[in-house]
Amino acid sequence: MPATGLEGIAGLLSANEREQCARFLRPRDRAQCVVARASLRIVLAKYIHEEPRALSITIGASGKPSLASSTGIQFNISHAGDLTLIAVSLKMRVGIDLERIREVRDMDAIVHGFFGGQEQAYLRACEGDGGERTRAFFLLWTRREAAAKARGLGLFESFARDTLPAFDYNRGGFRVELAPRGAPRGGSERWWIRDLVPAAGYAGALCVEQENAEPSFWRL
Ligand SMILES: CC(C)(COP(=O)(O)OP(=O)(O)OC[C@H]1O[C@@H](n2cnc3c(N)ncnc32)[C@H](O)[C@@H]1OP(=O)(O)O)[C@@H](O)C(=O)NCCC(=O)NCCS
Repeated sequence: MPATGLEGIAGLLSANEREQCARFLRPRDRAQCVVARASLRIVLAKYIHEEPRALSITIGASGKPSLASSTGIQFNISHAGDLTLIAVSLKMRVGIDLERIREVRDMDAIVHGFFGGQEQAYLRACEGDGGERTRAFFLLWTRREAAAKARGLGLFESFARDTLPAFDYNRGGFRVELAPRGAPRGGSERWWIRDLVPAAGYAGALCVEQENAEPSFWRL
């Protein structure tokens, strides 16, 4: 009889992935890890008409995972709270980030240490409304993380290299110029960033290697 439930989907994972999930101490975290990794395999397998368990996912030097086969499929994944976001594209590099909006100790130090002038001004305009400032902080933060993850950069490397505008949520998507990985400072590539609010209390962003994009959204 085929295994069902968590045990069943754990069978879709590679030995390495199962080992990574087993390292979580809390059963709930272990289960979330299995569900996220199995979901990623199920989604990618549909695009390339393969069996989920047959996919070979490799991890780059910076930690960014990719498909070993040359299908042109690019993806990225982010976890926060009870949610996981998966972004998939054809040929265009993609990065996605999700954060649960929560109180941040040392927010001022992070803002002054890492954000650019426009972003700092945007956050200053929210002063006096703590909730709004926190929401705006995560709006800007997730854009930066998505931009870092799209290029497979470490977060702090990306923060140091990129200058991002600070549009409000209502803007939808916008174009940005970002420094290519490994290029000297000052080079630029055209990317597109879009904010995502997959559930109340969360902020997220998608960054795609394209001038404009029309993403489709599915809930698994
Ligand atoms: C990548 C990074 C921004 C992720 O931040 P996070 O908010 O903690 O985690 P998220 O949930 O958004 O994303 C995690 C997923 O992103 C992917 N990922 C990991 N490193 C990545 C990278 N450099 N670029 C793109 N994606 C990456 C993985 O799939 C990971 O999933 P997993 O944790 O289930 O394995 C952060 O861990 C980082 O800065 N890593 C870089 C490390 C680094 O600089 N290494 C130096 C060698 S160059």
